[in-house]
Amino acid sequence: MNLADKFDEYLKANLPRAASFHPHYEKALGVMLLAGGKHFRAQLVLGVVNALRPELTKAAMPVALGVEMMHTYSLIHDDLPAMDNADFRRGTPTLHKTYDEVTAILAGDALNTHSFLLIAEAGLPDFVRCACVRELAKGAGVNGMVLGQAIDCYFENKPLNLSQLEFLHIHKTACLIAASLKIGAIITEASQKEQDKIYEVGIRLGLVFQIADDIIDATSNAEEAGKPVGHDKSKNSFTNLLGLEGAKAAKAEHLALIQAELKTLPNSIENMIQNLISKYLKD
Ligand code: IPE
Ligand code: IPE
Ligand code: MG
Ligand code: MG
Ligand code: MG
Repeated sequence: MNLADKFDEYLKANLPRAASFHPHYEKALGVMLLAGGKHFRAQLVLGVVNALRPELTKAAMPVALGVEMMHTYSLIHDDLPAMDNADFRRGTPTLHKTYDEVTAILAGDALNTHSFLLIAEAGLPDFVRCACVRELAKGAGVNGMVLGQAIDCYFENKPLNLSQLEFLHIHKTACLIAASLKIGAIITEASQKEQDKIYEVGIRLGLVFQIADDIIDATSNAEEAGKPVGHDKSKNSFTNLLGLEGAKAAKAEHLALIQAELKTLPNSIENMIQNLISKYLKD
């Protein structure tokens, strides 16, 4: 079984459990996790571990699931009426549509905190678990994804310049993607220098990922995307600032730079990232 399938199996067997007399709380926690998604960030965590220390792949599963839960919480909140107001995600009605906003807000809160519980309880050395918690909190939190989301929402209909746009998208998307790679490196106890290099590649990979997401919004259809498209009209998206061709050119430019940066990483990591690029980021 390949890594992505193993992760999928692990996720399905390890959904958050919360037995109570609440009629739908427990089910709501799992809906968006079960709806699918690419598991791009989890695959980055596991891909690095598998490339450098394959014997640790199993122990890394709860950490990868934690990262995926953090990402899924961010999407549940991103879709709320107060933010992007989206009716479906991963081909499934969003939680605030199926249930209500309270359920969506609380399911997001629960997945966010549960990600740290999973890491805290993973079968890895204390210092590794602590470093993973730190990276996930940094990537997702105050100076990471949440800052990006704050800027994304505050500056709707207020056009930013290119460097502000990159700041937005690096925080909103690239910080968590880079953290995912770095967490994989931490689990393998890679050197600080190796961790830093892989993080840098992750930032650029994350930027490409968001440019690709903006291109999907401008060019894809809802069925293919699994989420509403044409939704970014008021946003500081790459396609709005640079035009579709400009966004495609920026994506190609960053991809070319990634190719060069990958040469400085171990071969096995280069191959793993190349495979994910071919699968998700080539048009
Ligand atoms: C969507 O993320 C939001 C962005 C940061 C671009 P993904 O494209 O990874 O969404 P899923 O997890 O596959 O649904
Ligand atoms: C969301 O970005 C990024 C997050 C941190 C959740 P988008 O708003 O572009 O993501 P989609 O297009 O709704 O998936
Ligand atoms: Mg958004
Ligand atoms: Mg959105
Ligand atoms: Mg988008």
